[in-house]
Amino acid sequence: MRLQDNTTGIDRSHPLAVVVVGASGDLALKKIYPALFALFCQDLLPKQFHIVGFARSEMSNEDFRNRVEEKLTCRYVPGQQCDELMRAFLKNCTYMSGNYNSAESYRKLHTELEHIKTEGQENRVFYMAIPPFLFLEVANALHDAELVTQEEKRGWSRVVIEKPFGSDRESSDALTESMRHVFSEEQTYRIDHYLGKEVIQNLLVLRFANLIFDPIWNRTHIKNVRISWTENLSLQGRSGYFDQYGIIRDVMQNHLLQMVALVAMEQPVALNSTYVRDEKVKALRAIKPLALADVVVAQYGPGSTDGKQHFGYLQEKGTPEGSITPTYAAAALKINNRRWDGVPFLIRAGKGLGDSKTEIRIRFQAMPGNIFAKAAKGLPENELVIQVQPDAGLTMRIVNRVPGLGIRLDETKLDLRYSSAFEGAIPDAYESLILDVIQGDKSLFIRADELEAAWDIFTPVLHDLEAKHVEPESYEFGSEGPEAADALAARFGAKW
Ligand code: BG6
Repeated sequence: MRLQDNTTGIDRSHPLAVVVVGASGDLALKKIYPALFALFCQDLLPKQFHIVGFARSEMSNEDFRNRVEEKLTCRYVPGQQCDELMRAFLKNCTYMSGNYNSAESYRKLHTELEHIKTEGQENRVFYMAIPPFLFLEVANALHDAELVTQEEKRGWSRVVIEKPFGSDRESSDALTESMRHVFSEEQTYRIDHYLGKEVIQNLLVLRFANLIFDPIWNRTHIKNVRISWTENLSLQGRSGYFDQYGIIRDVMQNHLLQMVALVAMEQPVALNSTYVRDEKVKALRAIKPLALADVVVAQYGPGSTDGKQHFGYLQEKGTPEGSITPTYAAAALKINNRRWDGVPFLIRAGKGLGDSKTEIRIRFQAMPGNIFAKAAKGLPENELVIQVQPDAGLTMRIVNRVPGLGIRLDETKLDLRYSSAFEGAIPDAYESLILDVIQGDKSLFIRADELEAAWDIFTPVLHDLEAKHVEPESYEFGSEGPEAADALAARFGAKW
């Protein structure tokens, strides 16, 4: 959860430069530029700002602006006013081509940035929208070109990077250590875009601003927690990247584990980013490293949805022959502390399934000494469902009397849908997070020790899967996933 209102107190007097390294890629065009434009529309950027797109291909400013414009949307300001804002925004966007690892290329950037400086001070965000194997080369080249300022009086410099950070604990530590020579931990903003999602930001509010949940949020009252992330999409041309990582590194070790941490953590001492992240780290450290026996991996085969045929993972363009990279994984996490001992945290993530949905389900224990046991027979225990996407919302499933003259009980929903409960657009995760970077609020970013703790949970099992060449189970594209995942949940008395 963001801890302060970052829409107020924007520093408008100092110019801001945002350098988007990898500007012609999908992340930049689909997420970063639209998010910056959304902030601009809401008057949340400094008066003077300059966004420089940097990538390898040659392109004129005009061509680049056209590409950016195609992706901008008018979510906050309607019609003609939005067109004017777009023109004003695009005037501040320029493009420069160069080699990612060449200090020479970045020196040209230096000259480009000079003209917006006032009194020698200018703040800089370097957004690395590039594959992680390039992070270090780019950081070193930026350093050699003397673009990264270290003292506040010349303005601050911050770097934004996105996972995957390494592929296990060791490689992640090595990356963190080498990046530190250029950007200190304080200057580093590690994004997990799930933390910027509205419903996920609400988790701490739900838990710590509502008394009703506090006394029951523990092993005495909670039977299991299930976090499920499904996509009905194939790799859509990303198998080159995906095959090196697989679903555990792509989604589980980061997005899903962050949700686990927010559900499991203790209340922070106070609302400040250090305390919140301290509690997350403690929760992650209490999770036992996963054992192979508590993990299911699978890969989608061919299948069909709505009469449309889909390739299996192995037939997709870019997938190496015979790949055993999992596109699906399910795992049972055990948290070894007084609050959670014995409560399974079941997590699953899969691509190529029947549905695209992310939700957290908290299943409560059965009612002890239930005087309605007969009428409630066969009804499930209470459940709180936190629906992250699509259709953001919160649902509490309770047992209720069905109106009538007899005694009939049924499961009923107390249902809060964001779409009907709140007015206005829900900000995209990137809008939230980029605003936080500009405001220097690190509460929604992954601290180095948090990253270490996350890798400690998954590194042993990832090594085991690879060393033993564990063949993934198979599931049909468009299905609900492999039966082995259901069996895993059943072992812990649960159903997905
Ligand atoms: C990314 C993963 O981090 O998150 C992708 O690399 C995944 O594989 C994506 O598709 C999902 O993000 P969202 O916001 O669309 O749920």
